[in-house]
Amino acid sequence: MKALVTGGAGFLGSHLCDLLLEKGHEVVCVDNLITGNEQNIAHIKQDGFSYIRHDVSKPLYLKGKIDLIFHLASPASPIDYMELPIQTLKVGALGTHNMLGLAKEKNARFLLASTSEVYGDPLVNPQSEEYWGNVNPVGPRGVYDESKRFAEAITMAYHRYHGIDTRIVRIFNTYGPRMRMNDGRVVPNFIKQALCGEDITVYGDGSQTRSFCYASDEVEGIFRLMNSDYVLPVNIGNPEEHTILEFARIILELTGSNSRIIFKDLPVDDPKQRRPDITKAKKILKWEPEVSLEQGLKRTIEYFRDVLGTMK
Ligand SMILES: NC(=O)c1ccc[n+]([C@@H]2O[C@H](COP(=O)([O-])OP(=O)(O)OC[C@H]3O[C@@H](n4cnc5c(N)ncnc54)[C@H](O)[C@@H]3O)[C@@H](O)[C@H]2O)c1
Repeated sequence: MKALVTGGAGFLGSHLCDLLLEKGHEVVCVDNLITGNEQNIAHIKQDGFSYIRHDVSKPLYLKGKIDLIFHLASPASPIDYMELPIQTLKVGALGTHNMLGLAKEKNARFLLASTSEVYGDPLVNPQSEEYWGNVNPVGPRGVYDESKRFAEAITMAYHRYHGIDTRIVRIFNTYGPRMRMNDGRVVPNFIKQALCGEDITVYGDGSQTRSFCYASDEVEGIFRLMNSDYVLPVNIGNPEEHTILEFARIILELTGSNSRIIFKDLPVDDPKQRRPDITKAKKILKWEPEVSLEQGLKRTIEYFRDVLGTMK
């Protein structure tokens, strides 16, 4: 089949392009490189892969058939979406609208990459898909959370009104090689600080929790969801929960670093806990994460060591 991946030159998008090619699909990657990097797809040399530089918040006209559209384009890290608030809202709203329009024109199946951020600062833990969330629409993170909530709503509207075959994945914190070292997310932040011997900055007292899913597990879950016939949102993430402080200590141990842990003020509206309920993914997709935190972190640390080495 021919798949279009928006945001395909980003961290997760590039892993998804790899997986789709491995499964024998043709892949068209569309990205405007606002937070992505051509380096992420530079290793793909095979036939059946093409790349178009384009902002999907503007209409995209393509000749020929498209069977599957994976819509991942969006700034995703808090640093990025707070620096790019309007682009973030536009790609969630106009970008999703344009890609749904393309899906309608091509009679393609459409998958939206949504996020655990639709749950905001959740009042229940773990979060199941039935939880409606606790989002501050006018806080600094609202640009991302509300853009994804709108994207989910318009996806369901296209499904209900136009009969488009749609899927919605709610992605929980995912990490792995090809994350940007300076994207501000906790995994690259801590690893870079540990490898460079800098202080490890924990925001708040470090008792807030996160659960981290390795990239190969995440894209496998996304792939299975696209191949299922389930239309409502499905959480894909790793339910193993750690406090941020525990996590900082694990990274110190795995890198063998002597960095100190220091504490800074918690950012506004930072969620206190985040853990997916993956009952649906297990039941419907027969999916659950396979890569342990230690294995995944070792691979990611290796990647960041290489990146730091080439920067010297
Ligand atoms: N990584 C995570 O932990 C996580 C968690 C929840 C949701 N997600 C979602 O997964 C998707 C991918 O995230 P990521 O972590 O790979 O981030 P990323 O920043 O590495 O990738 C996003 C890609 O989208 C591209 N992009 C942004 N706006 C665009 C536009 N208007 N037109 C074309 N391309 C555009 C960027 O250039 C980048 O290559 C995002 O939709 C994000 O919201 C990721």
